[in-house]
Amino acid sequence: MNILGISAHYHDSAAALVVDGVPVCAVQEERLSRHKGDPAFPLLAIESCLQHVGIEPNELDAVVFYERPMLKFDRILTCALRAFPQSWRAFPKAMKNSLGEKVWIRGIISSHLGVPGRKVLFTEHHQSHAAAAFLTAPTCRAAIMTADAVGEWATLSVGDGERLANGPTTIRRFREIRFPHSLGMLYSTFTAYLGFKVNEDEYKVMGLAAYGQPTLVEQVRKLIRRTPDGAFALDLNYFEFHTTAEHCYSSRFIELFGPSRNPYEPIDLDTEEGRRFADCAASVQRVLEDTLVQLARALHEETGLPDLCLGGGVALNGVANARILAESGFERVFVPPAPGDAGCAIGAALYCDRICFGNPDRDLPDHPFWGPSVDGSELARLAREDGHFVEDCYDDALIDQIADDLAADRIVGWMEGALEFGPRALGHRSILAAPHTTEMRDRLNREIKYREPFRPFAPVVPLEVAARYFDIPPGGTRLARFMSGVFPVRREWRSRLQAITHVDGTARVQVLEPAMAPRLHALLEAYGQRTGIPVLLNTSFNLAGEPIVNRAVEGYSTFLRCRIDVLVAGETRVMKRTSAMTKTPVNTLKKEVA
Ligand SMILES: [Fe+2]
Repeated sequence: MNILGISAHYHDSAAALVVDGVPVCAVQEERLSRHKGDPAFPLLAIESCLQHVGIEPNELDAVVFYERPMLKFDRILTCALRAFPQSWRAFPKAMKNSLGEKVWIRGIISSHLGVPGRKVLFTEHHQSHAAAAFLTAPTCRAAIMTADAVGEWATLSVGDGERLANGPTTIRRFREIRFPHSLGMLYSTFTAYLGFKVNEDEYKVMGLAAYGQPTLVEQVRKLIRRTPDGAFALDLNYFEFHTTAEHCYSSRFIELFGPSRNPYEPIDLDTEEGRRFADCAASVQRVLEDTLVQLARALHEETGLPDLCLGGGVALNGVANARILAESGFERVFVPPAPGDAGCAIGAALYCDRICFGNPDRDLPDHPFWGPSVDGSELARLAREDGHFVEDCYDDALIDQIADDLAADRIVGWMEGALEFGPRALGHRSILAAPHTTEMRDRLNREIKYREPFRPFAPVVPLEVAARYFDIPPGGTRLARFMSGVFPVRREWRSRLQAITHVDGTARVQVLEPAMAPRLHALLEAYGQRTGIPVLLNTSFNLAGEPIVNRAVEGYSTFLRCRIDVLVAGETRVMKRTSAMTKTPVNTLKKEVA
């Protein structure tokens, strides 16, 4: 049975193809259209999925859309009527922004793909999030919590799921919290207030939070109060997102927190204003964490289950995830590689397969690499035409060469196998570098990533030695599998891991099991043999404002436009002539560590 899942028309559209119960391909439209966060109907992603298995649209048994447009329409209309007359100007814009073409989605899918309307099915938004989190996790029974800005009505849901080898799969929802009461909208409101892009830059708030003190927690608590039933409610006097598409926050919000940040001015943490913004970030982060921990703890008490699956965009908050693991009582917390709306494409297809069609349970591959594969020969051809230094080398020789490059402080663009699905580079489209010095961090920020200096870089470390460098609690390696948790760097290693240690001594570490990305794992070991520390800085392979690279040509274009020294795709290694001429620095680390 061939089931295509689609998420589209909000932000970060994606398609995923499930064949006989197993995902075979999933890709975000932005990776193919090269338009970051592309919200368009994902025609390129759909084509890529169908091509991957060599089928035509008429061979699809179902096409599943990741939410129910009429429920969303109901929510927007109801909110507009409640807020009338303030909302009458905003209503058409809200309709366009939040709903757009979705109302007609059955017809759009049907006409684009030529499939009959009866084959087009719908799941609820939070069902899609729940399915993406639970059905891809290696657990047969778990509590499930999903949290985001908003889907149709739900903004947070709690429930459980069960997979039986010879029986039905169930995903139950116990309760939900409904719009406009939303943890995601609370966080996004601060994202806007702090001058960042909503739905895109929430992780910058988390990064900034480490520079501040939660001195404004009491003020943030005025915005969100706990209700007697254990849920929460926003005080809508401080917000405007529910009445207008123009602003997230009201004048009362400004009275409480002071003037908002101008997005075009850098945050200067040496000024009082800069510190106020950092304190705002720290305070909303603390309140978000506290609320999620309390909700998760109650869910643990209710279910008595050891495993929790987390879904929705809020599950991208690695600091909150680590606190949930530490404080909620759950022994393991699973977050999929794409917990946000793109991941709903997989979730919708799997939900449909297991629950709508009642197909048998399957154990799924436990990795994020669902996209198109990179072609090293394409890179070799392009680079030779341009007169670069090109080598084709294989297996150990390639790994040794790249390890030498990294030990010589060269920055490496690393492309390998199938593209990651989700926002994180997990070892197939990464920029890799030595993690030891602040100079390397500053060089990456200045010459390659062009981003705010307060944002940390992440490390990758082999599973076998992760505990030596990072203070990862029991169950934490699971969160760290897809970079979904933030954990302390061990104090004694911080001075030698400066480029990946955040200001508060933590890192969003990826713990790599050999089977998931064998070549990167081999590279870490080879690097460790040279330097004594098998840890690399691993950041997504893209420039600011661009999506992560997909094909070799995009990696090559990025390589040409910034100061990456070495580019690898499959078996092909390309080095800039200027990088080849730089003197190899003497490696001092080897002597320091036995
Ligand atoms: Fe969502």
